[in-house]
This record gives sequence, C-alpha cells and structure tokens, in this order.
Amino acid sequence: MPGKQAISLEEILNHPTVKKATDDSNAEMLERRAYSPLQCEVFSNPYTILRETDRYRFELDRQAEKLLPDIIANKVQLVEGKDSVDDEVARQYGKKRNVGIVFSGGPAPGGHNVIAGLYDAAKKANPDSKVYGFLVGPDGIIENEALELGDELVDRYRNLGGFTMIKTGRTKIDSSEKMALSRETCRRLGLDALVVVGGDDSNTNAAFLAQEMMADGVQILGVPKTIDGDIQVRDVEGNVLCAMSFGFHTAARAFANAIGNLCTDSSSDIKYWHICKVMGRVASHLALEVALQTHANMTLIGEDLADYTDKARLEKARVDGTRDYNAYGMTLRHLSRIICEAIVSRAAVGKNYGVIVLPEGVLEFINEIQVFILKLNTIIAEYNQTHDQDFHSSFLHLEDKLEYLRRLAQRSREDTTFKLWHTRDDDLFNDIPAFFQEGLLMERDSHGNFPFSQVETEKVLLGLVKDYLNILKEEGRYKVGIQKDYFRKRLDNAGLDPDRYGPVLFRNFGIDEYLLVKPGIISVKTLNQALENAGLIKTGETIPAAVEIVFKKSMPSFKTQVHFYGYDGRGNDPTRFDCIYTYNLGLTVFSLIANGATGQMAAIKNLDKDFSRWEPIGIPIAPLMHLEERKGKLALVIEKSIVDVDSIAFRVVKAQREKWLAAAPGDDHYRRPGPIRFTGKSEENRPITLELNAIEAND
Ligand code: FBP
Repeated sequence: MPGKQAISLEEILNHPTVKKATDDSNAEMLERRAYSPLQCEVFSNPYTILRETDRYRFELDRQAEKLLPDIIANKVQLVEGKDSVDDEVARQYGKKRNVGIVFSGGPAPGGHNVIAGLYDAAKKANPDSKVYGFLVGPDGIIENEALELGDELVDRYRNLGGFTMIKTGRTKIDSSEKMALSRETCRRLGLDALVVVGGDDSNTNAAFLAQEMMADGVQILGVPKTIDGDIQVRDVEGNVLCAMSFGFHTAARAFANAIGNLCTDSSSDIKYWHICKVMGRVASHLALEVALQTHANMTLIGEDLADYTDKARLEKARVDGTRDYNAYGMTLRHLSRIICEAIVSRAAVGKNYGVIVLPEGVLEFINEIQVFILKLNTIIAEYNQTHDQDFHSSFLHLEDKLEYLRRLAQRSREDTTFKLWHTRDDDLFNDIPAFFQEGLLMERDSHGNFPFSQVETEKVLLGLVKDYLNILKEEGRYKVGIQKDYFRKRLDNAGLDPDRYGPVLFRNFGIDEYLLVKPGIISVKTLNQALENAGLIKTGETIPAAVEIVFKKSMPSFKTQVHFYGYDGRGNDPTRFDCIYTYNLGLTVFSLIANGATGQMAAIKNLDKDFSRWEPIGIPIAPLMHLEERKGKLALVIEKSIVDVDSIAFRVVKAQREKWLAAAPGDDHYRRPGPIRFTGKSEENRPITLELNAIEAND
C-alpha cells in the first residue's frame, strides 16, 4: 500500500471523506434539526384563550380536597385560537415572562420538543421573555442551578431524543425544606411559571408545588411524560382526555425494531429462544404494543396474569367438595409451566426456537412476589422513618438484610400483634435464589417505587422454565418434531425402510406431518432397546447411522439469549408522532401559562385520531389524585393506568395468541416493524394500541 503510506496523517484528517465521517453530526441529525413539526390549527392564531368546560367530571378524593384546596376545583380547559382579543387579554398574553422548565424522572423521546414548543411560543408572544432550564432534574430547582435557554441551544436539540440539553433527575420535592428552597429559587429568578415535565409522580409533585406556590403567584404546570405509557387520563364516564404520555411510541417502536430483528434471526438460525424483557414498570403497555408491532411468539401481559384462574384446580376442588383459594391468580411456578407448554408445543412441530416478550413489571402480578414487594416496601420505609441511617446504609450486605428479616420473624413469634413479617414469609423468602432476594430488597426510588428495571425477572423465570423442561425431557414429553418427508428421505437414502422404522420410533407415524419420537425413547440406549425389541437390529449391532441422526435431531436442547430493552429505546430519537405531539405539548403549556392557569397538565385530546382532530387542552391534576400506599404510608398520587384487559388492543392480542405462537406446521407470523423512519411515508402515524382502542362499535 505504498500510495496510502505516502499520505500524511494531516492530509488524511483534512480529506473531505474523513471530515464527514468524523463530524459529530450526520444527515439524519441535520434533517431532524431542520424539521418543523405540524402545529394544531389553534396555534396558527396570534392568540389562544382557555375555555373551561364542565363536560368532564372526576371523582374527587377527600384527602386531595383537603390538601390541594386551591386547585381541586380546577376544570378541563380547552385551548382556542383567536385572531384578536381585547387589550387587557393581549397585554397579559404578551407580557414579558420568566418561565422555568424541568425534566423529572426517566428520559422519554420528545422532551426537547416540549422545550422547543414552549420556547418558540414564549418568544413569539414576547421576544423579551426568558425560558430557564433547570439542570439535572428537580435538584436544579432546589439548588437554583438553571440555564437561560437561547436559540442556539434550543435549535441544537430540535426533534432529537434524550433529555441531554438540561439532563434529568429523580429527586422529589417532598419536604418543607426542599419546598422552601424551591420557592426561593423561583423568587430569585423572578419566575412567573414553572413547567414540570414528568410522569405520574412528578405531576403529583407539580400539583403540590402549584398549591404551595399559589400565594407567590408562580404558576405550576405539568406535561405527561413517560415511555411506560401509564399516564392516560379519562374522566368518570370514561371519556379519554389523554390517551398516552409522550415517549411511549418511540420506545415501543425502538424495542419492536430490535425484537422484530430477533424474530428474523431466531427463525433463520433456528437454535435460540430469545427472552426479551421490556421496560414499563408495573404496566405492560409497552409489551402490548411490542406484541402488536412484532407478533412475537409469546408476550406476557402482567395485567392479564393477575386475572388468571386455574380452571383445572377449581374443577378438582368442586369434585372434592372443597375450596381452593390458590386457584386464583398466577404463581411463578404456574407461569413457568405456561411458558414451557408454549416451548414444547412449538418444538413438536420442529420449531425449537422463538421469541418471548416479558414486561419488566410482570412480578407485580405474580401472587407470592407481589406480597413480598409490598411487605418489603413497608419494612424498608418503616425502618427509614424510625432510624437515623437508612435501611440500605445500615445493612450493606444481603446477609445483614436477611438477618434483620429473621429478627422480624422472631418478633412475630413473640408478639402476635406484629403481622408484617411472619416465620412463613421468612421461610419462603429464604427459599428463593440470592440474586432474586437482592433484587426484591433493592433500594426504592424517592417516590417509593420498586426498581423493576434492576431485577433479573427473566433469570428467575428462566431458572424455573429450564428445570421443568428438563423434567419434561426426562419424561419424553419435550421432543423436536421430525418432518415426515425428511424422515422418509433420510431412511430411503440409507437403504432403510421408513415404514418399518417409523412405527417403532414415533408415536404418531402415519398420522401427523411432524413425527414425535415415543416418550420411552429418551437416549441412544433406550433407542437401541426399542429397535432390538422390534427386531430391527440384533443384540450388539449398532444403530443405523440415519436412524441415530433422526433421533438426535428429535432431542431438544433449550438454548436461550436474554435481552433487556429499556435504556436504549428510551434514548432513541423520537418518532414523527412523538415530535409533533411534544412540540404541540410545548405550545399548549405556553397557552396555559399565558392564560393564567396553574395546577393543570398540558395534554392533547384525540391523539388516537387523525392529526386534524387533535385538540390541545389543560387537565386539572388534583382531581386525578387518589390514595396509594407509598413507602409504607398512604400518599396522594396520580393513579397509574395499567393495561385494561377489556380494551380492544388487549382483546386483539389475546385473540391472536395461538396464531402468533405458531405451534403448527408452517411459517411463523412475525411482523417486521423496521427502524423508526423519520422521513418517507411508511412510518405509522401513531401507536397501534391507540389506533385499536379508538375503534368504536359503529366504525
Ligand atoms: P419514568 O417513570 O420516570 O418515566 O421512568 C420510566 C423508566 O424508564 C421505567 O420504565 C423504568 O423502570 C425506570 O424508568 C428505570 O429507572 P432508572 O432510570 O432509574 O434506572
């Protein structure tokens, strides 16, 4: 390569191809930055106003009425466009404002566009207005770490994923000290309004801030963010006000792209079962969307498992004249059996491979684990409330934590009024593997949430699945089906008569397309025995090679690859749906600010319909609150929305289960969602779940 050596490093680095390859930006990024998201019709007007409506009703929580008196009576507000308004309204709308914005919780694709929408609207209304971004989440408010946003910074992140511009954090403003510091920050910056972009817990926090800062005249607004899709708002009559939080579509599409590719690989190399855990905390919305996007062979939906009743057990109890309370709800063992059945049934038609999707929060719906999660939440919270040092600093190692639990069990034996941790709990807990004990004892976040993403759920389930498959293999019930033509060809080529060997080897010879080796033949030794007994070989004779090859092909080995889809999809650049949705959320939140709202969450109604029908609205946060156990105590929080097993999307997935499992001769039914396409016409307009759930009886 003399020519290449002659080029100096300087020349190489200055070469246009090298310059292009080493530039931090690429064509996709530049295209994204230059893209202007569509805007809802109302925003084409110079002004927007808010019209309160009584059309939507909420059931108010007594505690919320007590703790949030100034915002509990808030109503849903419809954003309307206006060509002109009277002078006072125009003055208010266009007055110079200082607005702060903060990201709270995990990143969700589209966050930068919320900032861009808010920034553009604020500057359009008054170019002298300032927008501050609080750094690294709510800590930025508490510590007054803020950045004034300018054109260059905002433009750099338009339509790009992550929360990189100002970062995020999970701190909760939950003490009078943190609240006082936050008020002080707002005072120092002269803030008129603060926008909290976050999930259910962060919007809960926004409501409390709104109440607290009412007297200071600082408006607090929320924006529904989370890839988990668990902020969905309906009124008491079931009218959908917010069909989905932002970020969900992108994360689901990113997971689906990767899992769809695994379906392709798995059905090409036909040797692996891919076990894919997907994020989503307790709710299985992401798993449900991934199922619709990919048609993976098996997708577990936690909410569906909770509904489970073991009909066989119930029938047995009926016959015995007893009651079997364990027949209700799913156990880990039973779930592992269901997975094994799916694996065995596919193997029987020659498919010893496949893809299983597992929501990360599935354990929440498994009876015995849910009890542990709840009990340990309370134990840890109670410890933290009564000691100077927190539970995890006091008990650094697993053994120390187990010892503490042992002491609690001992206490329950001495004091019958102590019911939190019984000897039976302790015994059961000590029966589970150490890595899983560690997982269940992991530190809760500042909102008291269990860290599902850190627990190796798939490892726990896989352990049980592998054990049971080994039993089934020993019993000769887990076999790879041999295609009948393959068997014939193989034996014909070896000069053997398939019709003599077939009935000896298989239990369904001459009946089915895929032949299953008899249960009693589970090793070369037992095969030898069967052939000898049938007089096909004599004692001491070796098994014909072709027969042995066929037999070996029928013996399954369960090989797995485990994947976790979460942080990667969370960091994906947003889909066009999320770009447009979030930019309009930014515009909406400015409308709420400019019209004096507080304690409201910006939302877009009719997200599940065509863009022309999208309606920006403000949803009152306080009426969405209910009491929930957090850190061992009842706390007011926004209710999380989990998968509705009566929803059309779930019913469709349920109806397709058998088909997508494809435990029948023929092809799998995988769907190829492909990567997120920012340009072109082939990208879908919204999540499939939303499309399906929008179907109405007379559509
Ligand atoms: P938010 O609820 O804050 O939006 O977070 C979503 C999420 O990605 C969950 O799906 C996941 O369980 C969790 O964050 C992971 O938390 P962390 O980022 O702290 O590891």
